[in-house]
Amino acid sequence: MFELDQVRLQITSKTDPRKKAQLGQFLTPGRIAEFMANLFKPTVNKNCSLLDPGAGMGVLSIAFLERFLSGELNLDSVSVTAFEIDDIILPELHRQLQPYSQLNTITVQVCTNDFISDAVKKIMKSDRPLYSHAILNPPYKKITSDSNYRLQLRQAGIETVNLYSAFVALSLSLLKPGGQLVAIIPRSFCNGPYYRSFREYILHYSCLKHIHLFHSRDSAFSDEGVLQENVIILLERNGSENEVVISTSTDDTFSDLKHNTFPVDRIISPNDPDKFINIPTVTTIPNLENLHGISYSLSDLGIQVSTGPVIDFRVSDFLSSMPTNNTVPLLYPGHLTNQKINWPIEGFKKPNAIERNPETEKWLFPNGNYCLVKRFSSKEERHRIVATAISHGSFQHERLGFENHLNVFHQDKHGLPPTIAHGLAAYLNSSAVDEYFRLFSGHTQVNATDLKRLKYPSYQALQRLGELVLTDTPPNQEDIEIQLMLLSA
Ligand SMILES: C[S@@+](CC[C@H](N)C(=O)[O-])C[C@H]1O[C@@H](n2cnc3c(N)ncnc32)[C@H](O)[C@@H]1O
Repeated sequence: MFELDQVRLQITSKTDPRKKAQLGQFLTPGRIAEFMANLFKPTVNKNCSLLDPGAGMGVLSIAFLERFLSGELNLDSVSVTAFEIDDIILPELHRQLQPYSQLNTITVQVCTNDFISDAVKKIMKSDRPLYSHAILNPPYKKITSDSNYRLQLRQAGIETVNLYSAFVALSLSLLKPGGQLVAIIPRSFCNGPYYRSFREYILHYSCLKHIHLFHSRDSAFSDEGVLQENVIILLERNGSENEVVISTSTDDTFSDLKHNTFPVDRIISPNDPDKFINIPTVTTIPNLENLHGISYSLSDLGIQVSTGPVIDFRVSDFLSSMPTNNTVPLLYPGHLTNQKINWPIEGFKKPNAIERNPETEKWLFPNGNYCLVKRFSSKEERHRIVATAISHGSFQHERLGFENHLNVFHQDKHGLPPTIAHGLAAYLNSSAVDEYFRLFSGHTQVNATDLKRLKYPSYQALQRLGELVLTDTPPNQEDIEIQLMLLSA
């Protein structure tokens, strides 16, 4: 595997980044490939047919074949079918698999046609060949709604928005009952509306046996500079599930590998129509769920949260870099640092202000106290949810503009009482919320829908937290956490 990694790095450094993006070509490091191959369970069937769609230079098939040769899988033979369309990498794929194909227990077939078209054709025919195992690191690329792929996938009953989910759904479709699929894919499929039909598809045809989560966002493909949370999943076609194994490691050294087993209901709530896949990382129930007082929805509190309504490129004629007489502040995430507002900023990359006129009026909020949450936290920020309370007194203006990369807590499009704005920000910045949020949110974004799904302390508890924060000697974050527990226990 070490030698393969050297070849991988050579190939990767020579590949044009545009081509990498075009083909979604991020090759799997050897240690991850071995970890993935180790997830397969021995089966009663002794003859394995392995599918490796989007095989690259074959690292995943090789990891599987090495495990087969070690005898651990209890198999007599393996027949590999590897799909790859990139002419540049194909000779390497042949070269890597060739020594294995010399063995009389292994057969290798490299298919140079498009996996999606080929799989759709096979699925449409009833005599499709079925695989017992699939191992994949599929390409990552959006599929536009009018693309040929989208139409082909629809014929196979698959509605999905990215090549990675298409590859997983098609591979699953080509598996025999009891067949196992191991894939490394972005965590984004675990929630959000775009992947809902994909989640329904995989949960209908298979059961989730194992999820591995890397703690560090950039750990799986660090050599490639890929900043994305990846998970490794093991699915069993038509299996039954009571429990799901969740393993975690900081990175691909797996040096701090931990395993926990959870009842499946803890991962996918039976009452959740969206079928969100929640990945708990600790066996203890997080603090937030222990706090009985945290049981209020935003609507119970009479508070709403919305995405900042100003989409700057749509109102570009009305933006100005610095405030003038007829403008009002336009707030971006860049104006919020260390839970404080810093406006206007000289030399700011974005405009600081927006003209107030009949056309922009509908996008503006009255000046007031608001709690703002960044939709994208920066890598340096410790928490996913980064909230800042802004006060009426910070601005002399009658109106305020909130840009689309912010979420705004408000009351019927008006400001909140100051203690509530500050109490909400203190609550949202707590570690308890951060830990809880990580359980159900796969993506690094924080959208208004995510904030609507959260539970909140009572109005009185938020008020009390806000009062504490607004004193002359505000408590530090640790004191806030303690107050939160006391107020909500
Ligand atoms: C993310 S890379 C992974 C490669 C390899 N499985 C690994 O783990 O190192 C995905 C591979 O899929 C190939 N690919 C992209 N679209 C494809 C398609 N429609 N059919 C077959 N292969 C495809 C790319 O050329 C790329 O080599």
